[in-house]
Amino acid sequence: MAIIANLITAPLQAIFSWANGLWSLVRLIGIGLSALAGSGGTVKTRLIAKVAGPDGQRYGFSVLRAFIPNILISRSLVKCYENNGTAIVTRREDVLDVLNRNDEFEVVYGPRMRNITDGENFFLGMQPGWPYTRDTSAMRLAARASDVAKIILPRATAKAEELVAAQNGSIDLPKDLSLRVPADMVGHYFGTPGPSEPEMIEWTTIMFWYLFADLSADPDIEKQALTAAAAGRAYLDGVISEHKANPTDDENVLNRCLALQSAATPGMDDLGIRNNLIGLLIGAIPTISKASVLAIDELLRRPDALAGAQKAAREDDDALLCQYILEALRFNPHQPLIYRRATRDAVIARSTLRQRKIPKGTMVFAATFSAAFDTLEVPDASSFLADRPRETYLTWGYGMHACFGAAINLAIIPAILKPVLKLKNLQRAPGPEGQMDISTPFPKQMVLHYDAP
Ligand code: HEM
Repeated sequence: MAIIANLITAPLQAIFSWANGLWSLVRLIGIGLSALAGSGGTVKTRLIAKVAGPDGQRYGFSVLRAFIPNILISRSLVKCYENNGTAIVTRREDVLDVLNRNDEFEVVYGPRMRNITDGENFFLGMQPGWPYTRDTSAMRLAARASDVAKIILPRATAKAEELVAAQNGSIDLPKDLSLRVPADMVGHYFGTPGPSEPEMIEWTTIMFWYLFADLSADPDIEKQALTAAAAGRAYLDGVISEHKANPTDDENVLNRCLALQSAATPGMDDLGIRNNLIGLLIGAIPTISKASVLAIDELLRRPDALAGAQKAAREDDDALLCQYILEALRFNPHQPLIYRRATRDAVIARSTLRQRKIPKGTMVFAATFSAAFDTLEVPDASSFLADRPRETYLTWGYGMHACFGAAINLAIIPAILKPVLKLKNLQRAPGPEGQMDISTPFPKQMVLHYDAP
């Protein structure tokens, strides 16, 4: 019976997917034409900005899913980590499969992680094994899920409200709010405020850029990141010895690490603590800020969704607000893909028409953005819906390396955005100021206007 049902549904699904792909191609061409007809910058820069924008990528992935779901190209698109070609995997089933097959598709970040720590790897750069288990287990005890409601959320809520209240009719989202709340969290909850808030923001941003977004291996980015890393290491060494010399009862991650050290927990010597803290710090500030800006950017392009999110914020319906934010990030994700490298010749989508052999050494782009729009597995994928099951979202990655800070993100991003969404007559500032700045991977500016109370 199942075989007969399959015989009927499979061709229908293929036709549906092709129709979707063709429609997306038309939309993509439309985006290209609007860039040609637009003004400001050269035609090339306009075209790149439009096609590389969230809508352009979404339609592009839809075309790929329909016609070439697993592509292999001989060119290395990622220069910062060794590889000998690129594969792009777009179907949800295959994306999840790649992110589950740790042995065949490895994380690549190790060499740059070691440059940052000046020695050891950090757990995001590790394959399964004892060092990964040791470090993640210790850090899960130091940074506990229960801390989110108890320590992180109340402080972030108060901080965000205070920062928004300090503005008067205009707010520059990253500078005035979305960078500052996670920076405050890092100071208060991690116990590592840095020599100053701006320095902590600058260090973590450039190190994140170097590790994950410097695809062209720009020597200048490396230089800046390694300078920040050296300063960050010296700072952390100082804070660790200071806390050991003058212990406090503060409930923060650093103190918990030191308590684990006193209990002779493996991996929690001073150097281990420093390396693990560096990894968490890098993950925390620029990401939370960028995701907050992207979510608002998307909501501002969708009046109905914006109104829904504003209502949820005003009614203190935090769960619903979180759904709006997750859905906004599905359309405008923090990262469209996660990359892994094939450790041996491997096969993706075996025994299907899209089966593809991936040679050893290929960098595999697991396109999570595409997976979240796969019409074959995500119901009504192209609609903005605030009641999707959480499993739909790949916002924080998937599998063994899924984001360590996921529970924090789910609480802190709504806390950052709630007071903004409560503002009356919220809108973009006119001109480029009101658009999300895309001159670097991390938006430094997006000015919003509102009616001052
Ligand atoms: C909106 C904010 C964030 C986004 C979009 C984000 C995204 C991600 C993604 C996609 C991954 C998977 C990377 C991969 O598989 O290659 C990841 C892993 C990770 N993230 Fe986040 N992250 C965010 C915030 C945070 C925060 C606040 C922390 C620290 C508290 C953090 C720490 C980490 C760590 C340590 C890993 C590696 C986990 C492992 O290897 O087991 N992230 N994140």
